[in-house]
Amino acid sequence: MKEKVFIFVALPYANGVLHLGHIAGAYLPYDAFRRFMILRDFEVISTSGSDEHGTPITIRAMQEGLEPEKVASKFHKINREVFEKMNIEFSSYIETSSEIHKQVVKDFILRLIEKGYVYEGTMVQPFCPHDNMFLPDRYVTGKCPKCGYENARGDQCEHCGSTLEPSELISPVCVLDGFTPEFRETKHLFFRLSEFQDRLKKYIEERVYWKDNVLKYSRNFISQGLKDRPITRDLSWGVDVPFEGYENKKIYVWFEALIGYLTGVIVATGDIEAAKRLWKDPELKHYYFMGKDNIPFHSIIWPSMLLAHGEYTLPYFVAANEYLNFQGKKFSKSGGIGASMEEILATYDPEYVRFGLFYNLPEGHDADFSIEEFQNKINNELIDKFGNFINRALILSFKKGPISLDQVAQNNLDQEAEKRINSALVSFINNMNRVSIKEAFKDWLELARYSNIFITERKPWEACKRDDGNCRASIYTSMKIAFSLAVMGQVFLPVTSRKVLKWLGYDAPVPITENLLFPVAQVNGKPEKLFEKIVNKGINLKLSVAKIVNVEDHPNAEKLYLLDLEIGEEKRRIISGIKDSYTKEDLLGKKIIVVMNLKPAVIRGEKSNGMLLAAEDDAGVHLVLAPDDVDPGSQVNIGNLSIEDGELSIEAFRKMEIKTWNNGNSIIPVLNYEGDNIPLQAGGKSLRIDGEVKEGIRVK
Ligand code: 2FM
Ligand code: ZN
Repeated sequence: MKEKVFIFVALPYANGVLHLGHIAGAYLPYDAFRRFMILRDFEVISTSGSDEHGTPITIRAMQEGLEPEKVASKFHKINREVFEKMNIEFSSYIETSSEIHKQVVKDFILRLIEKGYVYEGTMVQPFCPHDNMFLPDRYVTGKCPKCGYENARGDQCEHCGSTLEPSELISPVCVLDGFTPEFRETKHLFFRLSEFQDRLKKYIEERVYWKDNVLKYSRNFISQGLKDRPITRDLSWGVDVPFEGYENKKIYVWFEALIGYLTGVIVATGDIEAAKRLWKDPELKHYYFMGKDNIPFHSIIWPSMLLAHGEYTLPYFVAANEYLNFQGKKFSKSGGIGASMEEILATYDPEYVRFGLFYNLPEGHDADFSIEEFQNKINNELIDKFGNFINRALILSFKKGPISLDQVAQNNLDQEAEKRINSALVSFINNMNRVSIKEAFKDWLELARYSNIFITERKPWEACKRDDGNCRASIYTSMKIAFSLAVMGQVFLPVTSRKVLKWLGYDAPVPITENLLFPVAQVNGKPEKLFEKIVNKGINLKLSVAKIVNVEDHPNAEKLYLLDLEIGEEKRRIISGIKDSYTKEDLLGKKIIVVMNLKPAVIRGEKSNGMLLAAEDDAGVHLVLAPDDVDPGSQVNIGNLSIEDGELSIEAFRKMEIKTWNNGNSIIPVLNYEGDNIPLQAGGKSLRIDGEVKEGIRVK
């Protein structure tokens, strides 16, 4: 019977689109490890899901003017699509707002209550007299008592990773209105974490095979003494508390999201009892992947919860990566730093993205991602080294026909290559077993680099002029390297590797073993080029139709309006200097065109998140407008325009020539791209320009 393992990856909050940092930090290493374990013949149950409760969701919902469930289901869907495109797979991908999860959480907590590990207590909580509400977790921010970071949240400091109580914050303020909260006494349920001090200490001490970062953090956490923790919150969005008098409160999001791993296994097996049986098996190993801010929840809180429950085994491995930065800065959605996965995948092949992220995995220390370096690595390493070698080897073999091992007499270059293959494989397997994914990737990359050296030195094309024995050996060895790269590559580049293996005659996944058997070198069907080089730099210009729903005067600038826009589900505010040409009434309800992917700018103390398109002549400003029957949120089509540098600044946008053009019937806006006039269209029709304008005027 196959040995079973669970492989989990932290449930991402469904409050935004995942970015490269999330994928590199947790999901991609998870996926490589999952693929590896399957190819090592383990029976793998792997799960994750959308973390849909708590203040990350309610605050986002408030900002967007949507119900929390709308926000959660929107990003659940988007993030699932991201995973699907990236070929990051799960046995099950749950939603924590699902009925099954609520039931599993309820059962778990009832058992903890029954066993006396959950009790009612009082605590002081920040209360905003202005909003007349308690301020759980992220509703309050202040200075971190541990590291001094100014914007620490009520539940955790993003900067140093410390888990916090709101009362620990220095100079706390309410995020809703900036008021200084009062601290009032209130009732909550508490988890008796203190009870587990000794058992947890022992548990962590036994985990000598964990990585330094996780061990250090966990040891330090325990050495400060485990304190009981409140597990309920004053919120109306979340899992109900199965305790009398708590009808207006919910379970703390972390406490129930962790139980999501159990829900995930239940959903994957489709059978509650079977799932529980698996989890109780003392031989079972479970692995967890996450970013470093999640460490204490997985190495301390979750094991304690499992101990309190009393029936389940404890995590075997907790793996946490460091942070990936974007071109020298921290990824920040609100600050407009770093592309979202949706944007990246609109431009690059998922296999390229996987390669680029493995190359730069923040394992052991922080790493940096830059678009330029990414493109260089794809062109110079993936394509010039790996792709090029595979191509040469396969074409030689295709021309020569099948060569079986017993027809081969290898010379010392071939023998050297055999040694390289073996040591790469052994090292790769060791590293993967230790969850050192980046090291394992380096083993693969080193063999790919060597493959070029080998074929250049061994020169099969010359060997084939000399004698048949040499010819066969040189091609066979090249093909064995190609085969080995494809077999290991299955965990990193699944689509590419499957393609190569198929040419080599393997339809099913090839198990990973120290001694790869390769009896016959042959190629089925003429091999094609594996990759296309990236020539087109940058991201696509994104324009959308936006409806003006509110107009206000800028408080600090006479000539500027603040425009509130509705763009499909999204709401945005932009600032525009069109006061001389349009009254507020003129503007209300108009469907204008907005540049969506500009870096947000602060103009006289107000944030502008985008820019509208308009032409200006002596008569004043003329807005570019969408056709009447096109809905707000519709995309404006201008073909694939690429922009240098990875992110579009206002300066870069202004360099692009959008101008008015007479197409015979009317004056319309077009983009002049390499001499062609491409009309700007929405819903299949050309955009128009408000009022009378002349041909050739720039649109800005
Ligand atoms: O940091 C996060 O994105 C959390 N939503 C991770 C939760 S992991 C587990 F609890 F499910
Ligand atoms: Zn801190």
